[in-house]
Amino acid sequence: MPPLLLPAEPVTSIDAYLATDAGGSGIERAQKLGPAATIEVVLRSGLRCRGGGGYSTGRKWAGIAAQSSDRRFLVCNGAEGEPGTFKDRALVRANPYQLVEGLIIAGFAIGAAEAFVCLKASFAREIEGVTRAIEEFQLAGICGECKITVVAGPDQYLFGEEKAMLEVIEGNEPLPRWLPPHIHGLFATAPQLGWQSHDPEAGEGTGTGANPTLVNNVETLCNVPHILAHGAEWFRSMGTAESPGTIVATVVGDVIAPDVGEIEMGTPLGAVIDAVGSGMAPGRTVKAVFSGVANPVVTGPNINVPVSYEGFGAIGSGMGAAGFIVYDDRTCMVDAAYRLSRFLSIESCGQCPPCKIGSGAITEHLERLEMGTGTDDDFARIVGWLDHVADGNRCYLAVEEQVMVSSLLRAFPEEFAEHIDLGRCPRPRRLPIPKLLDLSGGAAVYDESYWRKRPDWTYEPE
Ligand SMILES: Cc1cc2nc3c(=O)[nH]c(=O)nc-3n(C[C@H](O)[C@H](O)[C@H](O)COP(=O)(O)O)c2cc1C
Ligand code: SF4
Repeated sequence: MPPLLLPAEPVTSIDAYLATDAGGSGIERAQKLGPAATIEVVLRSGLRCRGGGGYSTGRKWAGIAAQSSDRRFLVCNGAEGEPGTFKDRALVRANPYQLVEGLIIAGFAIGAAEAFVCLKASFAREIEGVTRAIEEFQLAGICGECKITVVAGPDQYLFGEEKAMLEVIEGNEPLPRWLPPHIHGLFATAPQLGWQSHDPEAGEGTGTGANPTLVNNVETLCNVPHILAHGAEWFRSMGTAESPGTIVATVVGDVIAPDVGEIEMGTPLGAVIDAVGSGMAPGRTVKAVFSGVANPVVTGPNINVPVSYEGFGAIGSGMGAAGFIVYDDRTCMVDAAYRLSRFLSIESCGQCPPCKIGSGAITEHLERLEMGTGTDDDFARIVGWLDHVADGNRCYLAVEEQVMVSSLLRAFPEEFAEHIDLGRCPRPRRLPIPKLLDLSGGAAVYDESYWRKRPDWTYEPE
């Protein structure tokens, strides 16, 4: 299959982009069809949102377009904070023009007043590429009037959470607000949250003035120009019936050459590890694979699960953003649980006490088990907290802690018991947190400073 989203050579100018197979024709097609029929094409294509949830993109757009409101906004989520994921940065590096074209089509389809592209301030190369591509589109007169702003956001994991992202665009810290972007959009008047003693402000509780905002991931938008240019049926000719198209997968961890690569949906996970990550070292086998930190672990016996939303769903996991962290047979799964739980507990913002306190407590008990000082009581307390860590949660981070840690207790109970019985870790090995700073040429650069990050988001001095 020829690459669809990730060209072999980067596209570095609008002229080069317009000379490609699909470049520019998606916008032309959308303009001919009009907004409603454009949404209909995306709906029929079966495209599913690539930020992790796998929701129908067409249905999401239709929902925003259907809301009665004078102002709608569009946000492109390029925060890419999920450990083990680098595909959005790879896409922007390879071809920022298809992203901008997808953004323009989405904005046209939902009638957006303005669009924002959110990237981390530390993604300097990607900010430069997207900014240049927007300017070139405007200079070429393709979207001379479009108002598109590039936002350079903070490094926190929560910046990528859509309700927190809207807060950042509005000039605040990345703390998730209560209501989702389609109900409480950008620059909306305060929505009705319950009892209040004054007359409602304009728009409260009615949907008008709520400024419904569409948030879509970079890869979701990159697919859009191709679908408009070639049609829904063409898109459905790739992948599976429930997960059409391709996916840009990241493979890191215990593989020979970590990398990003585009694969057809439905490809077995083992084949993706071989094709994208060059496989396992000789003599090593896969013990566990995590798709980011938001889903239950995939264990070795399930290594040939099809990489599709339904494939991962059938084994009780989730494909997430197809960022695969691979661990081989030398790995201690108590250590993996401790380190991934530590990541989530540090990144929790603390607006919901069960999330911050619970994930912190789970991490401490996991650390005691890993260090060999843990007892049955530590195990029991982890189980107890897992029941409550997501109580009253504003965002999904607390659920990530719940599902990821519980899955490890279920899949590897003997390793937890072993640590308690032996009073030490039988497989000592310092696992890195694959928070990726760079990934190219078969080499991954992890954020080594992460070990100094504290729960209040400050850093321990070196
Ligand atoms: C803690 C947390 C972090 C997230 N980080 C990202 C991210 O870095 N990039 C992203 O696209 N979505 C991220 N998401 C998902 C977004 O909230 C949102 O669902 C997504 O951007 C919507 O885009 P899509 O509909 O195209 O998938 C995160 C969600 C949570 C709960
Ligand atoms: S669930 Fe956790 S991360 Fe999300 S808003 Fe609440 S405290 Fe913050």
